Amino acid sequence: MALSRMEVKCDGTERIPVDYVKGILQPTPTCDSWDQIWDFQARPDDLLICTYPKAGTTWTQEIVDLIQNDGDVDRTQRAPTHVRFPFIEWIIPSMGSGLEQANAMPSPRTLKTHLPFQLLPPSFLEKNCQIIYVARNPKDNLVSYYHFHRMNKALPDPGTWEEYFESFLTGKVCWGSWHDHVKGWWEARDQHRILYLFYEDLKMNPKHEIRKLGEFIGKKLDDSVLDKIVHHTSFDVMKQNPMANYSAVPAEIMDHSVSPFMRKGAVGDWKNHFTVAQNERFDEDYQRRMAGTSLAFHFQF
Ligand code: A3P
Repeated sequence: MALSRMEVKCDGTERIPVDYVKGILQPTPTCDSWDQIWDFQARPDDLLICTYPKAGTTWTQEIVDLIQNDGDVDRTQRAPTHVRFPFIEWIIPSMGSGLEQANAMPSPRTLKTHLPFQLLPPSFLEKNCQIIYVARNPKDNLVSYYHFHRMNKALPDPGTWEEYFESFLTGKVCWGSWHDHVKGWWEARDQHRILYLFYEDLKMNPKHEIRKLGEFIGKKLDDSVLDKIVHHTSFDVMKQNPMANYSAVPAEIMDHSVSPFMRKGAVGDWKNHFTVAQNERFDEDYQRRMAGTSLAFHFQF
């Protein structure tokens, strides 16, 4: 249930406002439909891909689709990412709702969410669904999210880089605090059917991580299929793929001329954005908030 409506700094155009759902900022169409989202009925053979925004969701979706289709690229060209994978809490009035899209989809479905663990609709756990969680180091995640806010009118205007840096650190961004998100799913991983992966591992050793994904999904992939999937899900190939680079979303919502969806796909780009002072502040905050967790990230190669 939405708690309090919040004014956000908009750029004076058609940005969607945000509000709170149980303490987590969300675009208001999500808040307004929260009861239906919470009641979402998962099916036992659903596969859920879950991430904090900008942690490599689209990349993982493309890999999973290719695994499910034995590396058949023509099959994965059937529709753009957002059509192939219903995003259960996402509603854009002009584009429709992930909930309706999911309900209309025949099984087996592969679904997407950015919800923190405590907001996951309970039926996913009741039905013992398989869940893939992907985490990305928070500095690159922050940078990527900042640029995504700039180009995506379905999110609030990020303000200046300095303002956004503070919003991210205080968790006043859509889907809430990065720290709580990655920790919440990390703590849940052993009690449920959750495969917890890292963006940096995918980048460093894609073949190994894709094989791991295949094993989790129950697909044994031979070497030539694995190599094909590695190739088709490389950053440069996906950037040119209109079914995987979000160019199919209307430009009034995602304006790739402001910042392309497939922006850099790198580990360590934060060094081009963080000042020394910001980095020190980030590290001090990170040590405090991540103390006691066994979670560890690569911040550079
Ligand atoms: P950058 O903004 O750092 O480039 P999501 O899909 O969760 O929204 O994440 C988007 C981020 O993943 C973007 O990061 C995007 O470039 C990156 N990405 C998408 N496909 C990728 C790929 N094949 N390899 C590496 N990074 C990829």
